[in-house]
Amino acid sequence: MVLLKGKKREFFVKVSEDELHTDLGILQLKELREKRFGDIITTHLGHDFVIQKPKTPDFFRHCKRVGAPMVPKDIGIIIAYTGISKEDEVLDAGTGSGILAIYLGSIASKVITYEKNAEFVKIARKNIEAAGLRNVEVRHGDIISEIVRLDEKFDIVTLDMMDAAQVIPYVKNVLKPGGFLVTYSPFFEQTKDIRAAMGKEFSEVRTLECMEREIKFVRGRTRPSTRVVHTGFITIARL
Ligand SMILES: C[S@@+](CC[C@H](N)C(=O)[O-])C[C@H]1O[C@@H](n2cnc3c(N)ncnc32)[C@H](O)[C@@H]1O
Repeated sequence: MVLLKGKKREFFVKVSEDELHTDLGILQLKELREKRFGDIITTHLGHDFVIQKPKTPDFFRHCKRVGAPMVPKDIGIIIAYTGISKEDEVLDAGTGSGILAIYLGSIASKVITYEKNAEFVKIARKNIEAAGLRNVEVRHGDIISEIVRLDEKFDIVTLDMMDAAQVIPYVKNVLKPGGFLVTYSPFFEQTKDIRAAMGKEFSEVRTLECMEREIKFVRGRTRPSTRVVHTGFITIARL
């Protein structure tokens, strides 16, 4: 996959023999085979695009999405507060479109992610393949029944699913000492169930909400965006 960045438009494309028909003209994608990152590809109408190597946020913007993918501001909190590193092994559920798994997989040594919906599994696998990640494995299954069968141990467990509280009692059996459990929940009620399920076994438990406010630059009226957006509550706990 490559990112084609124009002045006003960008395209996320696979290097192939195909033509890409755009409102700015046709691009011959086979030309990408002879080019390098930083080179220019031009449509038949003369519009230039810089060829760029895609980074993880590009996958967030362009990959196929199902459900409610986690947004970068919340993923940032998880990365920062768990200190995830290249030695870490991660257990994730549910996969959804695989956005969180892709971000974590681009840092950690291994990510195993469970998704119960067969269609979502296919989509996530395609997205992960497009991201070029071989260390992210999508398993089709219900984490509530599968977690008791796992004999692997993980440094971090991330749960972004409605019934996370039902999985929490089993997390300590798959978490390495000092490992982190992170949950993501849109609602207060769900978050209270999660906190109750954590009981006394976890330490350093904290629930955070990350408020992201873009600054809008308008001549004479520069100010923070007035859009207030709630996404979810992130609960981070340590064994
Ligand atoms: C909010 S989405 C996850 C989004 C994902 N973290 C991302 O960033 O793309 C929740 C997903 O959890 C899946 N799910 C819900 N309960 C599950 C379970 N018990 N086991 C596995 N997957 C589950 C749903 O099918 C859905 O795809």
